[in-house]
Amino acid sequence: MEVTKKIVGLREWLAQNRGASLGLVPTMGFLHQGHLALVKAAKAQNERVAVSIFVNPLQFNSPEDFENYPINIEEDLRLLAEAGVDLVFTPPPEEIYPKGFDAQLRIGAITKPLEGSARPGHFDGVTTVVAKFFNLFTPDRAYFGEKDAQQLLVIKKMAQDMNYGVQVIGCPTVREPGGLALSSRNSRLKESQKEEALLIWQALQLGKQKIAEGLSNSAQLIELMSEVVLSGASAAVDYISINDTQTLEPVEEITGEVLISLAVFLGKVRLIDNITVPPKA
Ligand code: PAF
Repeated sequence: MEVTKKIVGLREWLAQNRGASLGLVPTMGFLHQGHLALVKAAKAQNERVAVSIFVNPLQFNSPEDFENYPINIEEDLRLLAEAGVDLVFTPPPEEIYPKGFDAQLRIGAITKPLEGSARPGHFDGVTTVVAKFFNLFTPDRAYFGEKDAQQLLVIKKMAQDMNYGVQVIGCPTVREPGGLALSSRNSRLKESQKEEALLIWQALQLGKQKIAEGLSNSAQLIELMSEVVLSGASAAVDYISINDTQTLEPVEEITGEVLISLAVFLGKVRLIDNITVPPKA
């Protein structure tokens, strides 16, 4: 496995591997089984697999969140070597955003609700860095987790609208046995909060069950789900939302497939999760 911090190193590797199909897995490091599932999917579909590890300052709307983002590059490299990755790109911030960098890629309506509303500027940061990676790697396929459902839709829209010749592939969320979605942020949870975090999955399951039973009013559903989450001592709801799975427009009366998503604070740790739910059969 080759590791490079430099764009020039990346370009050399790409030149040596010209002609081979390339799968890219962009990450912010502190890797877990969710990331490794993306790598596995990439390995199954491409002759070469590259992973980027870059904690992108542009996508953090809170400096505290950026400073507290967990990092363990040695362990990440060990996991990626074991997973059979071919190239890891670990640029320092100045390699991606050199002095004077002054560009931004902004996608429209789909970035406005949910995470876009709760974290202003977040998706401008995500699309700017992912666009740079698409330009640098020109991968055949790129892999993203469905846990960040809105991010996946935004990147698909970006690839389509900007004519990136890359297939954007979503992979299912990987969960702990109790349902907690794997996330690098879980490492910041205290022991008691790990129990409370299970309420997120329980609230999503309740939402799914109530829709199956015929509850179609989103406001009522959100109320019931909030009660579940708020039974956790340190829990605060940032949002619980029912949206169209493609446009992300809010849904008031559930008649078709919907995305139920939520963002919850457990103390200072903010976790997001979602499920796609079919209408009542
Ligand atoms: O999902 C992430 O880890 C990040 O948002 C991404 C796609 C690597 C861009 O920084």
